[in-house]
Amino acid sequence: MNSNSPIGVFDSGVGGISVLRILRHDMPNENYIFFGDSIHAPYGDQPEARIREMSDANVEFLLAHGCKAIVIACNTATSAAADWLRAKYPELIIIGMEPAVKSAVDHAETKHPRVLVLATASTIHGERLHHLIGRFSDAAEIHPVAAPGIVPLVEAGKENSDELLRYLQDLLRPFRKKEDGGDGLLVDSVVLGCTHFPFAMDAIRNALGYDFTFYDGAYGTARETKRRLQEAHLVNASDAAGTITLYSSVPGQEAVALQQKLLDLPFTYAPEN
Ligand code: DGL
Repeated sequence: MNSNSPIGVFDSGVGGISVLRILRHDMPNENYIFFGDSIHAPYGDQPEARIREMSDANVEFLLAHGCKAIVIACNTATSAAADWLRAKYPELIIIGMEPAVKSAVDHAETKHPRVLVLATASTIHGERLHHLIGRFSDAAEIHPVAAPGIVPLVEAGKENSDELLRYLQDLLRPFRKKEDGGDGLLVDSVVLGCTHFPFAMDAIRNALGYDFTFYDGAYGTARETKRRLQEAHLVNASDAAGTITLYSSVPGQEAVALQQKLLDLPFTYAPEN
């Protein structure tokens, strides 16, 4: 293992690709190995002990491929397993995700912003998010909402479907305009607290039907990954573009093809995150 070794990135499925693309943007000379555990997705409605077990298997896979650091590109696995994994692998650099509540509060243009946090049921009910929201509850009105219906649709390649739009219109009714049939609790920002959700941004924006700002924890995770590699003198010094190798726990080519499609989607880099 040395500075040329790859960075290992895992998620419960294809969602972690939304983190990989920010990592690649910020550190284009690094090599990456991505593992999407789509066969076991969604993690978000499984017990914590099971999420730890699956996350551990993902780490073992990445270590067997010689990774110099592990990025948990999954809020659910971070919430349920990051501390446990750090205790199990004390020498290993392990970077997790945190829903970008701090950025949403720090960068808000209004004094007491209304912030919607969307995540899986496991993240929404986990202790980590509870603490995080507690830290900012004086500065903002924060609404955590579990959105378990998004992950299966993104995993099925249906991120632009009517089915997803209808699901979100229904789920987000309290936050839609009254004239659109909602309760009129308009939000200033939406925190994407699950790495599958950046692929549903158009659907979320259409379902809410007005202007607000998205915040995505992937930017903070990429910054932290860079900082940890610098600190450990493990930054890849090569001038050449790095490589990306994609793996899925689903046999066959289809799941990897979906990962590649999502990786190739154009997206707007938002440094203010
Ligand atoms: N992408 C994951 C996250 O960030 C989890 C999705 C799931 O498997 O439920 O939370």
